[in-house]
Amino acid sequence: MNQDTLREQQVHELEQRIAAARAGGGEQRVQRQHDGGKLTARERVEMLLDPESFVEIDALVTHRCRDFGMDKQRFPGDGVVCGYGSVEGRLVYVFAQDFTVFGGSLSETNAEKICKVMDLAVENGAPLVGLNDSGGARIQEGVVSLGGYADIFLRNTLASGVVPQISAIMGPCAGGAVYSPAITDFVFMVENTSYMFVTGPDVIKTVTHEEVTMEELGGASTHAARSGVSHFSVASDAACLLAIRDLLSYLPSNNLDDPPMRESDDDPERASSELDDVVPTDPNKPYDIKRLIQLVVDDGKVLEVQADYAKNIVVGFARCGGQTVGIVANQPAYLAGVLDIDASLKGARFVRFCDAFNIPLVTFEDVPGFLPGTQQEFGGIIKHGAKLLFAYAEATVPKITIITRKAYGGAYCVMSSKHLRTDVNLAYPTAEIAVMGPSGAVNILYRRELKEASDPEAVRAEKIEEYRTKFSNPYVAAERGFVDAVIEPRMTRREIIRALRQLRGKRQSLPPKKHGNIPL
Ligand code: HXC
Repeated sequence: MNQDTLREQQVHELEQRIAAARAGGGEQRVQRQHDGGKLTARERVEMLLDPESFVEIDALVTHRCRDFGMDKQRFPGDGVVCGYGSVEGRLVYVFAQDFTVFGGSLSETNAEKICKVMDLAVENGAPLVGLNDSGGARIQEGVVSLGGYADIFLRNTLASGVVPQISAIMGPCAGGAVYSPAITDFVFMVENTSYMFVTGPDVIKTVTHEEVTMEELGGASTHAARSGVSHFSVASDAACLLAIRDLLSYLPSNNLDDPPMRESDDDPERASSELDDVVPTDPNKPYDIKRLIQLVVDDGKVLEVQADYAKNIVVGFARCGGQTVGIVANQPAYLAGVLDIDASLKGARFVRFCDAFNIPLVTFEDVPGFLPGTQQEFGGIIKHGAKLLFAYAEATVPKITIITRKAYGGAYCVMSSKHLRTDVNLAYPTAEIAVMGPSGAVNILYRRELKEASDPEAVRAEKIEEYRTKFSNPYVAAERGFVDAVIEPRMTRREIIRALRQLRGKRQSLPPKKHGNIPL
């Protein structure tokens, strides 16, 4: 055989093998995937990454299973598409489970492929995106498949805080398989086509006799609004992949990098007169903190995280003067912005993410305290509230707090107070910084006088006014330096950007230790 023919044959074989890998589980299964409103693994990867940037790794890997007739069913790639590419020009590693090959189930080799890109992501300091669509452990393989999951969980844990890890749930994700996404930083779920649960409806019915549908148990809205397992709920595969690109634009590639700057035309010195009126003068009147945030940040753009969960606290990413910030804000429009178990968990996890990835924290505070009640106390508000406290206290990134109205009691301390090494603490003239609200305080301080008074209501009103004049303002805190400055609301954007610029070189460390013991 001459040299040219040999080369032609070799190229032909390579092309055939690559074509077989690209075909996944075959036309019929691809059609079924499309009919179900889902893209294939390869289509998803292409949509996630910049055009033509995807470089595949291990396209020709096949499984090693010989049981159950598996030796006759071998698909190059073995049910997962792995590799790297770029998002807005920045390196990203990706794996996408291919449901058309053995239901995207995790085999020994499939897990090895995923572990390989995870290792590369950590070694090269780039985010890892996992697109999950899988029937779980490859049933034909048994324990080697389970071992593969554990190998992934270990890597997820070791990579935590080193590179951002993002999971998209774009199909089934059941059993122990849910724990890899759960360890990652952000979970996206596609509405109507994805679900996550540890045990499915059938097992639940057998064990507890509860009847529940897959959607109710583990659909996107359940995890967005009830369990808090997911961070973003999206309408379709395409929307999911675009949303991941958007999220990545706020994040650094790894824990040693700073987040990318994105300049905007929004003037850093811009004053906003509307801000002067957002906080009502009546301290009991609700207002939407999201409006206030929009008026402050670059171009009014905020990527809210966990928007449907614990709505009494708002967390998300935005930019101020081009710099990524993590926003944490009490929401007076929902449960008066009170801190409860769910809000504490949501806030704490977000604060820790930002701290791990050099994202400055901007906290807007209007909080009447922790939510009272047996439900909260029995549920462990003490330990859960302590998580938020711990997270803020431990965070060494630049921290800026703006007290817009109430900063009462323990919640004053928790919400990034000066005492927790917050760098810049600002307050509006409407701020009320006190141990508790005037009415509660008067009831306790003047219990006897109120009981004995001929006109208790008049006495109460007088005492409330006296208390309000003395404590319900920012000036006692400002006199102590607990608040660095009282600012006009319209200047909020300018003050935040000046503070961020001042703090760009901030270096603060924690005492040497193996790790702290956050009250889990
Ligand atoms: C091997 C699997 C598979 C699996 C699905 N398939 N799950 N192959 N191992 N785990 C294959 C099917 O045989 C089928 O092959 C193809 O994938 C599509 O599956 P269908 O059932 O036709 O699809 P659908 O009707 O959409 O149902 C999807 C499904 C169902 C709900 C995911 O397949 C299912 O219940 N699978 C089993 C789920 C499960 O119990 N997994 C183990 C969980 S325990 P063909 O050839 O027909 O295309 C676990 C432990 C992890 O994962 C522990 C980690 C610590």
